[in-house]
Amino acid sequence: MKALILSGGTGTRLRPFTYSIPKQLVPVANKPVLLHCLENVRDMGVTQVGVIVGSQEDQIRAVVGDGSALGLDITYIPQHLPLGLAHCVLIARDFLGDDDFVMYLGDNMLVGGVTEAAKVFRTQRPDAGVLVTEVTDPRQFGVAELDSEGRVTAVVEKPLEPRSNLALIGVYFFTPAIHDAVARLRPSARGELEITEAIQGLVDRNHRVTAEQFTGYWKDTGNVDDLLDCNRVLLDTLHSDGDRGGVDTESLVLGEVVIEPGARIIGSRVEGPVVVGAGSTIRNSHIGPYTAVGRHCELSGAGISDSIILDGASIRDVLDIQGSLIGRWADVHVGDSHPRHRLLVGDHSQIALPA
Ligand code: DAU
Repeated sequence: MKALILSGGTGTRLRPFTYSIPKQLVPVANKPVLLHCLENVRDMGVTQVGVIVGSQEDQIRAVVGDGSALGLDITYIPQHLPLGLAHCVLIARDFLGDDDFVMYLGDNMLVGGVTEAAKVFRTQRPDAGVLVTEVTDPRQFGVAELDSEGRVTAVVEKPLEPRSNLALIGVYFFTPAIHDAVARLRPSARGELEITEAIQGLVDRNHRVTAEQFTGYWKDTGNVDDLLDCNRVLLDTLHSDGDRGGVDTESLVLGEVVIEPGARIIGSRVEGPVVVGAGSTIRNSHIGPYTAVGRHCELSGAGISDSIILDGASIRDVLDIQGSLIGRWADVHVGDSHPRHRLLVGDHSQIALPA
């Protein structure tokens, strides 16, 4: 089995971050979402991986490389425009050949249960297998209807009036039968080739399409709240190795706290679960719980919890930051000579000040 990871797209719901970083590279518990995906694929026993990349290809290549560090053999497949999930299958045709493959959306986080799903597909080998999970608002997702044996009878992309609460989550197992279904597609109302319609095409022509109920933790990390939720869930699984190098005697470190090499904690209180990235300095601050600090960050006189701080960011003399995503090399500080708020805010940024 091969894998096709979708790491193109636009990431509009994560602006302004996605102007400068592909959404699949936003870190959760200090590791880009895409690397979590690739590790899951490797754990399925797959080594040949095609990665669809869009205009931010260079950044993805810089992080993932040829995949050898992960034990994977990666082929990059450029997509000139985000023309849909099924378009990705179309342009990956040469890479996929006539092999079965798992298609994995590079912005989806799945914790636990994926290897089991791969095993079921390999053993039963339906024409296609999807993963579904119950959601409260199915209108944001592809929605599946099943018969009593778990066979898919219909799938609809983001229906206004969903007929079930089972969302398609970002992992699909396909046999080569999908290629014929994709070749028959026409662009949808939103101008994309929809994989959901290709799956419906298989159902219509009496192919066996099955659904596995996913029982692990799943999130589409397309927006900030969902990213922070993922961050909390992954940080909850954190185990500190007990290494307190870099922590001075004036600091208090409580709970599960991972301090990466070269990070320093000075006169601070760090309340796990927290991860502090390599080369970062935390001085006279209160960090955590549920906070991931990237690499080479400088925090001084800061108070922050339930947040993700990307590499190189600095926070000086600002307390009570919560539920925040702070971008690479961002600088959050109290103005030295400005009696009022002075804001340099990029397009689509969001700032919420206390009432
Ligand atoms: O998250 C699960 C949902 O993902 C499913 O329930 C839907 O049926 C499915 O269509 C998809 O919906 P989204 O609207 O969330 O898809 P999104 O545009 O976010 O794209 C998913 C991933 O695929 C993301 O990593 C970007 C990448 N992508 C997307 C498109 C449209 C590409 O690489 N190329 C593309 O052309």
